[in-house]
Amino acid sequence: MEGKKEIVLSGIRPTGFVHLGNYFGAIRNWANMQNEFDCYFCVVDWHSLTTHPDTKELKSNVIRLISELIGSGLDPDKCVIYIQSDIPEIAELYLYLTMLAYKGELEKTVTFKDKVRMQPENVNAGLLTYPVLQAADILIHRAVKVPVGKDQEQHIEMTRNFAERFNYRYGEVFPMPYAFNYGEDLIKIMSLDGSGKMSKSENQMNTLYLADDDDLIRKKIMKAKTDSGPTVPNSEKPNYIDGLFNLLKVVSAEDVINKFETDFNNCNIRYGDMKKQLGEDMVKFISPIRARSEALRNDEKYMKEVIEHGTSKARASAKATLQLVREAVGVKYY
Ligand code: TYM
Repeated sequence: MEGKKEIVLSGIRPTGFVHLGNYFGAIRNWANMQNEFDCYFCVVDWHSLTTHPDTKELKSNVIRLISELIGSGLDPDKCVIYIQSDIPEIAELYLYLTMLAYKGELEKTVTFKDKVRMQPENVNAGLLTYPVLQAADILIHRAVKVPVGKDQEQHIEMTRNFAERFNYRYGEVFPMPYAFNYGEDLIKIMSLDGSGKMSKSENQMNTLYLADDDDLIRKKIMKAKTDSGPTVPNSEKPNYIDGLFNLLKVVSAEDVINKFETDFNNCNIRYGDMKKQLGEDMVKFISPIRARSEALRNDEKYMKEVIEHGTSKARASAKATLQLVREAVGVKYY
Protein backbone atom coordinates (compact mmCIF):
# COMPACT_ATOMS: atom_id res chain seq x y z
CA MET A 1 0.00 0.00 0.00
CA GLU A 2 1.20 3.49 -0.79
CA GLY A 3 2.30 5.44 2.32
CA LYS A 4 0.57 8.63 3.37
CA LYS A 5 1.86 11.61 1.44
CA GLU A 6 3.65 14.38 3.31
CA ILE A 7 1.56 17.47 3.96
CA VAL A 8 2.59 20.78 2.40
CA LEU A 9 1.27 24.22 3.33
CA SER A 10 2.17 27.63 2.09
CA GLY A 11 0.55 31.03 2.02
CA ILE A 12 0.59 34.31 0.14
CA ARG A 13 -0.79 37.73 1.10
CA PRO A 14 -3.34 39.43 -1.16
CA THR A 15 -1.64 42.82 -0.79
CA GLY A 16 -0.95 43.66 -4.42
CA PHE A 17 0.26 42.11 -7.64
CA VAL A 18 2.08 38.78 -7.74
CA HIS A 19 5.68 39.32 -8.82
CA LEU A 20 8.63 37.23 -9.96
CA GLY A 21 9.91 36.90 -6.40
CA ASN A 22 6.67 35.22 -5.37
CA TYR A 23 6.82 33.07 -8.46
CA PHE A 24 10.42 31.86 -8.24
CA GLY A 25 10.61 31.93 -4.45
CA ALA A 26 7.40 30.02 -3.86
CA ILE A 27 4.77 29.37 -6.54
CA ARG A 28 7.05 27.47 -8.93
CA ASN A 29 7.80 25.00 -6.12
CA TRP A 30 4.10 24.78 -5.27
CA ALA A 31 3.27 23.79 -8.84
CA ASN A 32 5.84 20.99 -8.70
CA MET A 33 4.90 19.82 -5.23
CA GLN A 34 1.23 19.34 -6.07
CA ASN A 35 2.23 16.27 -8.09
CA GLU A 36 4.07 14.69 -5.18
CA PHE A 37 2.48 15.73 -1.92
CA ASP A 38 -0.76 16.54 -0.16
CA CYS A 39 -0.75 20.29 -0.78
CA TYR A 40 -2.63 23.22 0.77
CA PHE A 41 -2.14 26.76 -0.57
CA CYS A 42 -3.74 29.59 1.33
CA VAL A 43 -4.52 33.21 0.44
CA VAL A 44 -3.87 34.84 3.80
CA ASP A 45 -6.31 37.73 3.84
CA TRP A 46 -6.25 38.14 7.65
CA HIS A 47 -2.50 38.66 7.49
CA SER A 48 -2.97 41.47 4.97
CA LEU A 49 -5.07 43.41 7.50
CA THR A 50 -1.98 43.92 9.68
CA THR A 51 -0.53 46.30 7.08
CA HIS A 52 -3.42 47.10 4.75
CA PRO A 53 -6.36 48.26 6.91
CA ASP A 54 -8.13 49.70 3.86
CA THR A 55 -10.07 46.76 2.41
CA LYS A 56 -11.56 48.44 -0.68
CA GLU A 57 -9.36 46.39 -3.01
CA LEU A 58 -9.20 43.24 -0.94
CA LYS A 59 -11.81 41.28 -2.86
CA SER A 60 -10.36 42.05 -6.28
CA ASN A 61 -6.85 41.31 -4.95
CA VAL A 62 -7.95 37.93 -3.60
CA ILE A 63 -9.64 36.93 -6.84
CA ARG A 64 -6.77 38.13 -9.01
CA LEU A 65 -4.29 36.31 -6.79
CA ILE A 66 -6.16 33.02 -7.05
CA SER A 67 -6.41 33.40 -10.82
CA GLU A 68 -2.65 34.08 -10.96
CA LEU A 69 -1.88 31.03 -8.85
CA ILE A 70 -3.85 28.84 -11.24
CA GLY A 71 -2.44 30.71 -14.25
CA SER A 72 1.04 29.92 -12.89
CA GLY A 73 0.34 26.21 -12.86
CA LEU A 74 -1.56 25.31 -9.68
CA ASP A 75 -4.27 22.79 -10.49
CA PRO A 76 -7.30 22.92 -8.17
CA ASP A 77 -7.80 19.20 -8.79
CA LYS A 78 -4.32 18.41 -7.52
CA CYS A 79 -3.99 20.82 -4.59
CA VAL A 80 -6.25 22.66 -2.18
CA ILE A 81 -6.51 26.40 -2.84
CA TYR A 82 -8.46 28.38 -0.26
CA ILE A 83 -8.86 31.67 1.58
CA GLN A 84 -7.71 31.96 5.20
CA SER A 85 -10.83 33.77 6.47
CA ASP A 86 -13.03 30.90 5.23
CA ILE A 87 -11.40 28.65 7.83
CA PRO A 88 -12.36 29.85 11.35
CA GLU A 89 -10.42 26.95 12.87
CA ILE A 90 -7.22 28.83 12.03
CA ALA A 91 -8.29 31.69 14.29
CA GLU A 92 -8.98 29.34 17.19
CA LEU A 93 -5.61 27.62 16.86
CA TYR A 94 -3.98 31.07 16.67
CA LEU A 95 -5.57 31.89 20.02
CA TYR A 96 -4.08 28.81 21.72
CA LEU A 97 -0.69 29.50 20.17
CA THR A 98 -0.63 33.12 21.39
CA MET A 99 -0.33 31.72 24.94
CA LEU A 100 2.88 29.98 23.87
CA ALA A 101 4.48 32.97 22.15
CA TYR A 102 6.43 35.49 24.19
CA LYS A 103 6.33 39.23 23.76
CA GLY A 104 10.13 39.48 23.72
CA GLU A 105 10.64 37.03 20.87
CA LEU A 106 7.82 38.58 18.83
CA GLU A 107 9.35 42.04 19.23
CA LYS A 108 12.68 40.72 18.01
CA THR A 109 11.28 39.27 14.77
CA VAL A 110 12.95 40.88 11.76
CA THR A 111 9.71 41.39 9.79
CA PHE A 112 8.08 43.04 12.83
CA LYS A 113 10.98 45.44 13.26
CA ASP A 114 10.83 46.29 9.53
CA LYS A 115 7.10 46.96 9.70
CA VAL A 116 7.48 49.15 12.80
CA ARG A 117 9.95 51.23 10.83
CA MET A 118 7.62 51.40 7.83
CA GLN A 119 4.34 52.11 9.63
CA PRO A 120 5.17 53.62 13.04
CA GLU A 121 1.64 55.03 13.24
CA ASN A 122 0.05 51.56 13.20
CA VAL A 123 2.00 49.11 15.37
CA ASN A 124 -0.99 46.90 16.11
CA ALA A 125 -1.09 43.63 18.05
CA GLY A 126 -1.87 41.76 14.83
CA LEU A 127 1.47 42.90 13.46
CA LEU A 128 3.24 41.74 16.61
CA THR A 129 1.55 38.33 16.54
CA TYR A 130 1.83 37.91 12.75
CA PRO A 131 4.20 34.89 13.12
CA VAL A 132 1.73 33.23 15.48
CA LEU A 133 -1.06 33.44 12.90
CA GLN A 134 1.36 32.11 10.31
CA ALA A 135 2.18 29.20 12.63
CA ALA A 136 -1.55 28.49 12.93
CA ASP A 137 -1.81 28.42 9.10
CA ILE A 138 0.89 25.76 8.97
CA LEU A 139 -0.02 23.70 12.02
CA ILE A 140 -3.76 23.58 11.29
CA HIS A 141 -2.99 20.96 8.61
CA ARG A 142 -0.10 19.44 10.56
CA ALA A 143 2.06 20.33 7.58
CA VAL A 144 5.71 19.33 7.38
CA LYS A 145 7.02 21.01 4.25
CA VAL A 146 6.60 24.76 3.87
CA PRO A 147 7.78 26.01 0.47
CA VAL A 148 8.75 29.69 0.90
CA GLY A 149 11.32 32.26 -0.14
CA LYS A 150 14.31 33.23 1.97
CA ASP A 151 12.49 36.08 3.73
CA GLN A 152 10.14 33.64 5.50
CA GLU A 153 12.83 31.49 7.09
CA GLN A 154 12.58 33.07 10.53
CA HIS A 155 8.79 32.69 10.62
CA ILE A 156 9.08 28.97 9.94
CA GLU A 157 11.68 28.63 12.68
CA MET A 158 9.26 30.38 15.06
CA THR A 159 6.50 27.99 13.99
CA ARG A 160 8.73 25.11 15.04
CA ASN A 161 9.30 26.74 18.41
CA PHE A 162 5.58 27.22 19.03
CA ALA A 163 4.82 23.66 17.90
CA GLU A 164 7.52 22.26 20.16
CA ARG A 165 6.20 24.20 23.15
CA PHE A 166 2.67 23.03 22.42
CA ASN A 167 3.74 19.38 22.19
CA TYR A 168 5.79 19.70 25.38
CA ARG A 169 2.99 21.30 27.36
CA TYR A 170 -0.05 19.44 26.06
CA GLY A 171 1.23 16.28 24.37
CA GLU A 172 2.39 15.39 20.89
CA VAL A 173 0.03 16.85 18.26
CA PHE A 174 2.26 18.56 15.70
CA PRO A 175 5.07 17.31 13.48
CA MET A 176 7.95 19.78 13.07
CA PRO A 177 7.61 21.82 9.85
CA TYR A 178 10.55 23.18 7.89
CA ALA A 179 11.11 25.69 5.06
CA PHE A 180 11.43 23.90 1.74
CA ASN A 181 12.87 24.63 -1.68
CA TYR A 182 13.67 22.17 -4.47
CA GLY A 183 17.08 23.76 -5.00
CA GLU A 184 19.77 23.95 -2.35
CA ASP A 185 18.95 27.30 -0.80
CA LEU A 186 15.84 29.34 -0.27
CA ILE A 187 15.50 31.98 -2.97
CA LYS A 188 15.59 35.75 -2.90
CA ILE A 189 14.79 37.63 -6.13
CA MET A 190 16.24 41.14 -6.04
CA SER A 191 14.54 44.28 -7.37
CA LEU A 192 15.79 45.56 -10.74
CA ASP A 193 17.74 48.39 -9.09
CA GLY A 194 19.41 45.95 -6.69
CA SER A 195 18.16 47.99 -3.73
CA GLY A 196 16.19 45.22 -2.04
CA LYS A 197 13.88 42.34 -2.84
CA MET A 198 11.00 42.48 -5.30
CA SER A 199 7.85 43.43 -3.47
CA LYS A 200 4.08 43.40 -4.04
CA SER A 201 3.44 46.98 -3.09
CA GLU A 202 6.76 48.89 -3.00
CA ASN A 203 9.29 49.95 -5.63
CA GLN A 204 6.92 48.99 -8.47
CA MET A 205 9.05 50.15 -11.43
CA ASN A 206 11.80 47.84 -10.22
CA THR A 207 9.60 44.79 -9.72
CA LEU A 208 8.27 42.54 -12.50
CA TYR A 209 4.64 41.52 -12.00
CA LEU A 210 2.83 38.63 -13.64
CA ALA A 211 0.18 41.18 -14.69
CA ASP A 212 2.65 43.52 -16.48
CA ASP A 213 2.02 43.88 -20.21
CA ASP A 214 4.77 43.08 -22.72
CA ASP A 215 5.90 46.66 -23.26
CA LEU A 216 6.07 47.40 -19.57
CA ILE A 217 8.19 44.27 -18.98
CA ARG A 218 10.64 45.37 -21.69
CA LYS A 219 10.67 48.93 -20.41
CA LYS A 220 11.37 47.93 -16.79
CA ILE A 221 14.20 45.64 -17.83
CA MET A 222 15.78 48.19 -20.18
CA LYS A 223 15.74 50.68 -17.30
CA ALA A 224 17.37 48.24 -14.87
CA LYS A 225 20.52 49.54 -13.26
CA THR A 226 23.83 48.61 -14.93
CA ASP A 227 27.25 50.24 -15.26
CA SER A 228 30.03 50.46 -17.85
CA GLY A 229 31.02 46.83 -17.24
CA PRO A 230 33.93 45.12 -15.49
CA THR A 231 37.49 46.11 -16.30
CA VAL A 232 39.22 43.16 -14.62
CA PRO A 233 38.55 39.63 -15.96
CA ASN A 234 36.47 37.31 -13.73
CA SER A 235 35.45 40.12 -11.37
CA GLU A 236 32.80 39.67 -8.74
CA LYS A 237 29.43 40.98 -9.94
CA PRO A 238 27.90 43.98 -8.19
CA ASN A 239 24.54 43.00 -6.66
CA TYR A 240 22.40 44.76 -9.32
CA ILE A 241 24.26 42.89 -12.10
CA ASP A 242 24.05 39.65 -10.17
CA GLY A 243 20.27 40.21 -9.93
CA LEU A 244 20.00 40.54 -13.73
CA PHE A 245 22.01 37.36 -14.22
CA ASN A 246 19.75 35.58 -11.77
CA LEU A 247 16.72 36.57 -13.83
CA LEU A 248 18.47 35.40 -16.98
CA LYS A 249 19.12 32.07 -15.25
CA VAL A 250 15.45 31.51 -14.53
CA VAL A 251 13.97 32.45 -17.91
CA SER A 252 16.66 32.17 -20.59
CA ALA A 253 18.23 29.26 -22.45
CA GLU A 254 21.48 27.71 -21.28
CA ASP A 255 23.54 28.99 -24.25
CA VAL A 256 22.27 32.54 -23.73
CA ILE A 257 23.24 32.47 -20.05
CA ASN A 258 26.67 31.04 -20.88
CA LYS A 259 27.30 33.64 -23.56
CA PHE A 260 26.68 36.58 -21.24
CA GLU A 261 28.60 34.95 -18.37
CA THR A 262 31.59 34.53 -20.68
CA ASP A 263 31.26 38.10 -21.98
CA PHE A 264 31.15 39.36 -18.40
CA ASN A 265 34.23 37.37 -17.42
CA ASN A 266 36.10 38.60 -20.52
CA CYS A 267 35.12 42.23 -19.86
CA ASN A 268 33.31 42.63 -23.19
CA ILE A 269 29.73 42.39 -22.00
CA ARG A 270 27.18 44.72 -23.60
CA TYR A 271 24.51 45.21 -20.99
CA GLY A 272 22.15 46.77 -23.56
CA ASP A 273 22.15 43.50 -25.55
CA MET A 274 21.79 41.44 -22.43
CA LYS A 275 18.79 43.45 -21.24
CA LYS A 276 17.17 43.26 -24.67
CA GLN A 277 17.52 39.48 -24.67
CA LEU A 278 16.31 39.23 -21.07
CA GLY A 279 13.32 41.44 -21.93
CA GLU A 280 12.29 39.16 -24.79
CA ASP A 281 12.76 35.99 -22.76
CA MET A 282 10.83 37.49 -19.87
CA VAL A 283 7.93 38.48 -22.15
CA LYS A 284 7.82 34.90 -23.44
CA PHE A 285 7.72 33.67 -19.90
CA ILE A 286 5.18 36.08 -18.37
CA SER A 287 2.68 36.67 -21.18
CA PRO A 288 1.11 33.16 -21.24
CA ILE A 289 0.69 33.26 -17.44
CA ARG A 290 -0.94 36.69 -17.71
CA ALA A 291 -3.28 35.54 -20.48
CA ARG A 292 -4.36 32.40 -18.61
CA SER A 293 -4.94 34.33 -15.38
CA GLU A 294 -7.04 36.99 -17.11
CA ALA A 295 -9.23 34.39 -18.78
CA LEU A 296 -9.80 32.53 -15.51
CA ARG A 297 -10.53 35.71 -13.59
CA ASN A 298 -13.34 36.58 -15.96
CA ASP A 299 -14.96 33.19 -15.47
CA GLU A 300 -16.76 33.94 -12.22
CA LYS A 301 -18.51 30.60 -12.04
CA TYR A 302 -15.24 28.71 -12.29
CA MET A 303 -13.53 30.90 -9.70
CA LYS A 304 -16.42 30.40 -7.26
CA GLU A 305 -16.29 26.63 -7.75
CA VAL A 306 -12.55 26.54 -7.14
CA ILE A 307 -12.90 28.50 -3.91
CA GLU A 308 -15.85 26.44 -2.62
CA HIS A 309 -14.09 23.19 -3.41
CA GLY A 310 -10.89 24.38 -1.67
CA THR A 311 -12.77 25.64 1.37
CA SER A 312 -14.51 22.36 1.99
CA LYS A 313 -11.28 20.33 1.75
CA ALA A 314 -9.28 22.76 3.89
CA ARG A 315 -12.00 22.88 6.53
CA ALA A 316 -12.18 19.12 6.82
CA SER A 317 -8.45 18.97 7.48
CA ALA A 318 -8.56 21.96 9.86
CA LYS A 319 -11.45 20.52 11.88
CA ALA A 320 -9.66 17.22 12.37
CA THR A 321 -6.57 18.98 13.74
CA LEU A 322 -8.57 21.32 15.94
CA GLN A 323 -10.33 18.40 17.57
CA LEU A 324 -6.94 16.95 18.56
CA VAL A 325 -5.82 20.37 19.75
CA ARG A 326 -8.89 20.88 21.93
CA GLU A 327 -8.51 17.48 23.51
CA ALA A 328 -4.82 18.05 24.14
CA VAL A 329 -5.35 21.52 25.63
CA GLY A 330 -8.18 20.22 27.78
CA VAL A 331 -11.01 22.42 26.53
CA LYS A 332 -13.25 19.52 25.60
CA TYR A 333 -15.84 19.11 28.33
CA TYR A 334 -18.49 16.72 27.02
P1 TYM B 1 4.29 36.93 0.86
O1 TYM B 1 2.87 37.10 0.48
O2 TYM B 1 5.10 38.16 1.13
O3 TYM B 1 5.06 36.14 -0.27
C1 TYM B 1 4.60 34.90 -0.77
C2 TYM B 1 5.79 34.00 -1.05
O4 TYM B 1 6.70 34.62 -1.97
C3 TYM B 1 8.02 34.63 -1.41
N1 TYM B 1 8.71 35.85 -1.82
C4 TYM B 1 9.93 35.89 -2.39
N2 TYM B 1 10.77 34.90 -2.70
C5 TYM B 1 11.92 35.26 -3.32
N3 TYM B 1 12.27 36.54 -3.62
C6 TYM B 1 11.43 37.56 -3.32
N4 TYM B 1 11.75 38.81 -3.66
C7 TYM B 1 10.21 37.26 -2.67
N5 TYM B 1 9.15 38.00 -2.22
C8 TYM B 1 8.26 37.13 -1.71
C9 TYM B 1 7.83 34.59 0.09
O5 TYM B 1 8.96 34.07 0.73
C10 TYM B 1 6.61 33.68 0.22
O6 TYM B 1 7.00 32.33 0.22
N6 TYM B 1 4.13 35.62 5.68
C11 TYM B 1 3.97 35.13 4.32
C12 TYM B 1 2.59 34.56 4.02
C13 TYM B 1 2.16 33.43 4.90
C14 TYM B 1 2.69 32.10 4.88
C15 TYM B 1 1.91 31.39 5.84
C16 TYM B 1 3.72 31.49 4.17
C17 TYM B 1 1.17 33.46 5.81
N7 TYM B 1 0.99 32.22 6.38
C18 TYM B 1 2.18 30.05 6.08
C19 TYM B 1 3.97 30.15 4.43
C20 TYM B 1 3.21 29.44 5.38
C21 TYM B 1 4.19 36.29 3.38
O7 TYM B 1 4.07 37.42 3.76
O8 TYM B 1 4.41 35.93 2.08
